[in-house]
Amino acid sequence: MLNLQVSQKPILEHTDSDGSVILDLAPGFLAVALVRRGQGVRVASAAENQLLGKSTERQRDGFLAGRHAAHLACLRLGIACELIGRGRHGEPLFPAALRGSISHSRTVAVAAVAQATATQAVGVDVDDERNLPAIAMADISWKSEVSRLQTFLSLSDLHAAERFAFSAKEAVFKCQFPLTQNRRLGFKQVSLWPLKSGEGLQVRPHSTAKATAEVLRRISVVTLSCQGHRVVIATANQ
Ligand SMILES: CC(C)(COP(=O)(O)OP(=O)(O)OC[C@H]1O[C@@H](n2cnc3c(N)ncnc32)[C@H](O)[C@@H]1OP(=O)(O)O)[C@@H](O)C(=O)NCCC(=O)NCCS
Repeated sequence: MLNLQVSQKPILEHTDSDGSVILDLAPGFLAVALVRRGQGVRVASAAENQLLGKSTERQRDGFLAGRHAAHLACLRLGIACELIGRGRHGEPLFPAALRGSISHSRTVAVAAVAQATATQAVGVDVDDERNLPAIAMADISWKSEVSRLQTFLSLSDLHAAERFAFSAKEAVFKCQFPLTQNRRLGFKQVSLWPLKSGEGLQVRPHSTAKATAEVLRRISVVTLSCQGHRVVIATANQ
């Protein structure tokens, strides 16, 4: 497996007429696509439609935009796939040669897809810009962590740093899940620490099973702003 070098400063940004954006975070190895919900979103295949089951219009809209973004990112890596499936616990299932993840906010959907030769798993999350109440934050992060992330991101807005802590941990959750099947990983079982290079964050496990801790230690996190949306990408190295 390659040692994936993910850049927080994408090499190439390609914007389509429908507003979708594709970023190469590691050209040929890791692509991120952002799609506006409801705009130019491709029609789902019959098999993908079946995955939707009973859903509200809003859920359907988010699902379709997420699948559209995922297909765009797969194509960017040279793989056209008929179906991006759904696992028993809601996790997206990509073709065997790829690893990927999906997230939606109220306005956009984002997918991050990597070559399986480059990373064992990917997790993505997009900030939905809803501030978190203090009572929820107490279960998500520590004041010291939020302050550390605020410095890392050079943010003056405390709420934005809190949202980032939440979003980054959601990305970490999605990244570790296919490798550990751990559905119960708690927010405070993970802490985020800036890398010395300043190019991203590393994950430290707290009170987790040994197998989960081993996976979490291999996860690194990068973040970037795409069309004004903060996106977090977690990848699991060897
Ligand atoms: C599953 C979960 C991560 C989804 O995150 P969310 O912020 O609610 O929603 P998002 O829009 O960002 O992501 C939704 C996508 O997550 C993906 N997803 C769902 N379950 C997943 C899982 N078990 N593993 C990986 N990805 C999953 C799906 O692709 C879904 O989109 P789709 O239904 O269109 O395919 C979240 O609801 C959850 O249960 N989290 C567990 C608690 C947690 O995060 N703890 C942090 C510990 S560090």
